[in-house]
Amino acid sequence: MGQKIILPGLIDPHVHLRDPGQTHKEDFLTGTSAALAGGYTTIFDMPNNAEPITTEERLNTKIASAQNQVVCDVGFHFGTLGDNFDEFEKVIDKVSGLKIYMNVTTGNFIINSDKLIEIYKAWPGTKPILLHAEDDVSDIVFKTLREIKTPTHICHVSSEAELTFVMKAKEEGLPITCGVTPHHLFLTDRDAEEKGAWAHMKPSLKTQKDQDFIWRHMDAVDIIESDHAPHTKAEKQGNPPPFGVPGLETTLPLMLTAEQKGKLSRQQLIDRLHTNPAKIFDVSVDKSTTIEVDMDEFEISNEKMLTKCGWSPFAGQRVVGEVQKVTIRGSIVFENGEVLVSPGSGKIIN
Ligand code: NCD
Ligand code: ZN
Ligand code: ZN
Repeated sequence: MGQKIILPGLIDPHVHLRDPGQTHKEDFLTGTSAALAGGYTTIFDMPNNAEPITTEERLNTKIASAQNQVVCDVGFHFGTLGDNFDEFEKVIDKVSGLKIYMNVTTGNFIINSDKLIEIYKAWPGTKPILLHAEDDVSDIVFKTLREIKTPTHICHVSSEAELTFVMKAKEEGLPITCGVTPHHLFLTDRDAEEKGAWAHMKPSLKTQKDQDFIWRHMDAVDIIESDHAPHTKAEKQGNPPPFGVPGLETTLPLMLTAEQKGKLSRQQLIDRLHTNPAKIFDVSVDKSTTIEVDMDEFEISNEKMLTKCGWSPFAGQRVVGEVQKVTIRGSIVFENGEVLVSPGSGKIIN
C-alpha cells in the first residue's frame, strides 16, 4: 500500500437518497454506506422524494425510516412549493435548510418564480435556503436577496454566467454561498455527447470555457457538493432518461487527483469538502471523526460501488485517493470496503 493521508470526515450538503418512495434507486442504508466509502461522515438529504417532503408528517416518516438504517450522520432539507408555510415553524428544529427548485429537474417539483419572495418571507431566517436556480432565474434571486437577508446557498453552479452572478452577489455583500459538483468540474458538454444518458443531469454539462472559468475562480466556490442523484441503469437506458448521476464514492478521489495535478491545494480541498459545509450548515465538528485515504492509483469501477444504482459516469477512470478507513467519534465504522456498524448506528442531525 502507498502513502496514506488522514483527513477530517467529509460533509456533503446535497444528496438524494430516494428513501422513502424510490428505494429501488437507493435507500438510507445503501446511500449512507456509499457515503462512508467515499469518505463522508455527514450528509444532507434533499426533499424531492416521490412524495416531496413538504409536510411535518412526511418529514417524520422520512426521519423514522432513516433512524433504523443510516450508518453515517444524516440531516434533512425541507421542501416547498410555496403552499406549506404553516409547516415551517413545525419543522424548523428538525431540518437543516429549505430547498427550493426554480428550474425543472427530477421530481417535477418546481415553484413559480413569483412565489420566491413569499417563501423567503415565510421561512424562519435561522436556517439557510438552498436554491436550484440556473442562470435564467438569477435576476429574481438578486431582487429577493436584496430584500430578505436569509443565508442562501446556490446549488450546483455550472457555468461562467452562474458563478459570475454569485461573485457579484458576494461583492454586494449579499448572504450567498455556492456549491459546484464534481461532474461539472471534470466533465463537459463533449462528455455529454459521448456518454449520453450516463452524463445526463441538471444543470446540464457546460463548455470547456465554463469549466475553466470555475476552476480559475475556485476561491468563489464555497463547497464541492456531490449532488449524488442515483437512478437505476434500466431507468438511465429508458426514454427519456431521468436527470442525475451518483457521486458520493467518486468525489474525493477526483478532487485528490486534481490536487495532484496542481489544480487546487490541499487546504482548498479540505475547506470545500469539510470546513465550509460545516460552517454553512452548522455541523458540529468532532476531532475524532476522520478518514484514512490511500494515495495509490486505482481505477473507478462500477462493481465496487456501494450505491444501489451500481454505476458511475467516471467508471474506468484512473484516480488516486481510495478511502481505507472511516472513524466517527472515535469508532471505526468502515474499513477495507466494508461497513462495520449496524444499520441505524448513524446519527440524525438538524
Ligand atoms: C437530481 C435528482 O435526480 O434528484 N437530479 C439532477 O440531475 N441533479 C435533482 C437536482 O438536484 O436537481
Ligand atoms: Zn438541483
Ligand atoms: Zn440535487
